Amino acid sequence: MPPFYVAVVGAGPAGFFSAASLLKIEHPAVHVDMFERLPTPWGLVRSGVAPDHPKIKAVSAVFAKTALHDRFRFFGNVELGRDMSREQLLERYDAVVYATGAQRDRALGVPGEDLPGSVAATELVGWYNGHPDFTTLPVDLSVRAAIVIGNGNVALDVARILTTQPSELCSTDIADHALQALTASAIDEVTVVGRRGPLQAAFTTSELRELGALDGVYVDVDPADLADITDDELAAVGPVEQRNIEVLRDLAVRPRPSGRHRRITLRFGRSPVELRGGGRVREIVLAHNDLRVDGAGVVAVDSGQREHLDCGLVVRAIGYRGAAIEGVPFDRDRGIVLHVDGRVTGGDREYVVGWAKRGPSGIIGTNKKCAQQTVDVIVGDLASGALAPLRGRLEPPNMAETGEHPGVVLAEGWLAIDRMEVASGRAAGRPRVKLCTRDELLAAAHSAT
Ligand SMILES: Cc1cc2nc3c(=O)[nH]c(=O)nc-3n(C[C@H](O)[C@H](O)[C@H](O)COP(=O)(O)OP(=O)(O)OC[C@H]3O[C@@H](n4cnc5c(N)ncnc54)[C@H](O)[C@@H]3O)c2cc1C
Ligand SMILES: NC(=O)c1ccc[n+]([C@@H]2O[C@H](COP(=O)([O-])OP(=O)(O)OC[C@H]3O[C@@H](n4cnc5c(N)ncnc54)[C@H](OP(=O)(O)O)[C@@H]3O)[C@@H](O)[C@H]2O)c1
Repeated sequence: MPPFYVAVVGAGPAGFFSAASLLKIEHPAVHVDMFERLPTPWGLVRSGVAPDHPKIKAVSAVFAKTALHDRFRFFGNVELGRDMSREQLLERYDAVVYATGAQRDRALGVPGEDLPGSVAATELVGWYNGHPDFTTLPVDLSVRAAIVIGNGNVALDVARILTTQPSELCSTDIADHALQALTASAIDEVTVVGRRGPLQAAFTTSELRELGALDGVYVDVDPADLADITDDELAAVGPVEQRNIEVLRDLAVRPRPSGRHRRITLRFGRSPVELRGGGRVREIVLAHNDLRVDGAGVVAVDSGQREHLDCGLVVRAIGYRGAAIEGVPFDRDRGIVLHVDGRVTGGDREYVVGWAKRGPSGIIGTNKKCAQQTVDVIVGDLASGALAPLRGRLEPPNMAETGEHPGVVLAEGWLAIDRMEVASGRAAGRPRVKLCTRDELLAAAHSAT
């Protein structure tokens, strides 16, 4: 049987887990070419996972092993839809797997949301993690109070990074520009605002516990937010929610420390209705919500009561959103590629994995199972003959030689970036010092050739 060429678009966890599963297929032997819009691989493992969570980033070593496979090639700095069209991919590959994640932010849809000082977590997280698209994001930390909207793990990541002692961050791979800004930061109060109650919070217990363990940070939980939770309600939720309530109850009775402390305040049952300020955010107006049970579960309903909080920074951490790729069927409501079981609906030999398939939820490991499910569908399609090596297929490009995309970063280029970052990190007692602009990344990558 002739070899089978698959293009995987996106070098995050979903792309790498898919590549690993595809490379295990024996008949036919699968060749994987991976295309990534950034000069660097690993997706959100590099640009999303918090810098103070180095153990989680260790999964990139597993991906690096896949990248060494002799039937695998990496083409970084090549964006599908910008540098290459869907049609070009389809005439050169027997199948295409989209693993493009969820790159966009979601809007609150309230007045004042676009004021300077109001940013999406997508941007702020990219900024502190050295994602080259966000290096120049204007982030003013000379303000005292920040508000984080949302009750997921990203909201807790942001609250933690904004309040962690710079002396702890300086041994991480946080972007240098962010470390400087955080070292000079005047922020001493971060309020995390959830629209529903503590029982409905999306964060997980270890991330909540981490807030309580932060040095020099007092976590303010209003006992009144927990007082009405009944044993029956607690019995009806899952173990994560039960443990969250345990931790919140513990935090709520902790004595307020004396002396100077930064504070993280967790507020529930509130939704932003307006951001105000002349020229930049100075105040947020929150609606107090009543919680009602309806067919969709527990929903927040505006009670009409309002609360005004002074603030100079508002971060909306209300979820990521997929971006459409020209020509690829897309569900605009859900922000995902249209598919059934990972097979693109109305597609031509096209498949989807990860956040581009399921939407922006799930931890890194969730994408392994998700990728295997899609690869199983590909294997089934190969077995049934629905998918076969394409007759008249053009040779997959050898971009190193064709000069088709001069800025392409090959595996050696990424390894050169990696070596340079790790070497600068070693000198500073850090895992790496990230190169944070495309120019720096490309210069490092092309120094290898
Ligand atoms: C802020 C944050 C922190 C997180 N922290 C953790 C954590 O601590 N632990 C944990 O287990 N999970 C964590 N997660 C979840 C985890 O990161 C995701 O489950 C996982 O990254 C999703 O994998 P993915 O491959 O679908 O998407 P991504 O990781 O986003 O990868 C998609 C890749 O596709 C590329 N791409 C996009 N469009 C194109 C295109 N048109 N052409 C070429 N390439 C393209 C992108 O540049 C990116 O590299 C976190 C998520 C976020 C947002
Ligand atoms: N350490 C880790 O393991 C880690 C770290 C970061 C991220 N992750 C994972 O990455 C995934 C994405 O995390 P995430 O935090 O972006 O998403 P998430 O878990 O879906 O949380 C989104 C939060 O935003 C709220 N929200 C949505 N729309 C809103 C609106 N219009 N107004 C107010 N609040 C709104 C949601 O409230 P409702 O529930 O009311 O909708 C929810 O609390 C998750 O699976 C997460 O576990 C993991």
